[in-house]
Amino acid sequence: AMRNELNRLVGEVKDVNQRRVFDSEMQGFFSLFNRYLSEKAKGEKIEWDQIHPPAADQVVEYASLPETADTAILEKLVVLKLNGGLGTTMGMSGAPKSAIEVREGMTFLDLSVRQIEHLNEAYKTNVPFILMNSFNTDDDTQRIIQKYANHNIQILTFNQSRYPRVSRESLLPVPRSAMSDKSEWYPPGHGDLFDALNNSGLLEKLIEAGKEYLFVSNVDNLGADVDLRILNHLVESKAEFLMELTDKTKADVKGGTIIDYKGTVRLLEIAQVPSEHVEDFKSVRKFKYFNTNSVYIHLPALKRIMDNGGVELDIIVNNKVADNGEPVIQLETAIGAAIKHFKGAHGVNVPRSRFLPVKSCSDLLLITSDLYSLEHGKLVMNPNRMFAQTPVVKLGDTFKKLVNFQKRFRTVPNLLELDHLTVSGDVWFGRNITLRGTVIIVANEGSRIDLPDGSILENKLVSGNVSI
Ligand code: UTP
Repeated sequence: AMRNELNRLVGEVKDVNQRRVFDSEMQGFFSLFNRYLSEKAKGEKIEWDQIHPPAADQVVEYASLPETADTAILEKLVVLKLNGGLGTTMGMSGAPKSAIEVREGMTFLDLSVRQIEHLNEAYKTNVPFILMNSFNTDDDTQRIIQKYANHNIQILTFNQSRYPRVSRESLLPVPRSAMSDKSEWYPPGHGDLFDALNNSGLLEKLIEAGKEYLFVSNVDNLGADVDLRILNHLVESKAEFLMELTDKTKADVKGGTIIDYKGTVRLLEIAQVPSEHVEDFKSVRKFKYFNTNSVYIHLPALKRIMDNGGVELDIIVNNKVADNGEPVIQLETAIGAAIKHFKGAHGVNVPRSRFLPVKSCSDLLLITSDLYSLEHGKLVMNPNRMFAQTPVVKLGDTFKKLVNFQKRFRTVPNLLELDHLTVSGDVWFGRNITLRGTVIIVANEGSRIDLPDGSILENKLVSGNVSI
């Protein structure tokens, strides 16, 4: 029944080229869907006693990599940002997350472009910059990058696949027509990169142009700049795939981790862990690292894999509720899961400074504050910060959506000496506020707290109308 429905949808598309693209997308979707059904039927689970922390040669310490000035690899490099996500966790549904202004009027996208422009100027090279967009992000992205048309930087874009949501009850596609509303389709996760790059023809073009290495990272991670030490390690080690890992702290116990599974390197995500082992998975001692989602891929190896049947990535089932209240599923995959397909694949344990994710408005507050400054598009920690750790910031639900966050802070407060901030309820920050030490601000139900311009709060608990 699924196959018939998909055929019908494909048949609706009149334009030959559009139909070809849509058809290969639906084939990709159909094979994911079939794997989902057969795995569900088998009730297959990962064998927990076969999971071990990575062996010594499966993770290399960044600090052990030699310093280098060898820039020859840059000629063979392309940099790609994953730009298909909308940042739904931050309450965004219209614009791509990469269009959020971070500093000095520049968005994540602008800053990523700045990093590459700087790289190209500094090393007199011409590393292309690629964006993997989705049908959700492409329009806005094209508008933002227009201004770089006259710059000396090559920006390429392609769209990832558009898969149909599936009704949980009928297991049929939600869209009744190939052209139906956006909300009935979804971008199937960053694991789609492999199919999308291949289907777009870009993989082949890059290889023809003599490119060999692809560096991929999240568009919101402004710490992931091009690093010659890692790149040269990639060449020397002949690894076909590298994954940047970083030390897991108690704040990121949910992140995917690298494991040794029956002798091969694998990615283990919390969604794959049987419930009785979740605590074990979260242990910082047993699984020391987590995946930053910055990866390096040897392009000819990828071509070989795609020509031999492609990648088969662990399926992440994302349960959602459609606008009309109907329960639907989205079958998604993650880029890191491809590690098992490549020869010599391993992890590099990098400093935390290379991983500055923005998953929530609390993260956004940190990176827009005086804790960081900009160096050629890269965020670097303010040298005047006395502690190595960034503050722990917990903004409550009233700050969850980006629009509310932006309204509730007239300007970003000074956080240089902050350790811990918790805010909940109806709280409003005036201009130029300084927060130091541990600050807790709680407006109880029915009360509102306005912090006046210029306030300095140091080790303070503010609650209701009482201030201690
Ligand atoms: P995440 O899946 O971690 O999420 O994406 P996100 O985009 O931050 O947002 P929400 O809140 O879960 O919606 C990590 C990176 O992968 C990209 C995102 O744009 C981000 O850079 N991504 C995600 C894609 O390119 N395609 C996808 O289908 C999903």
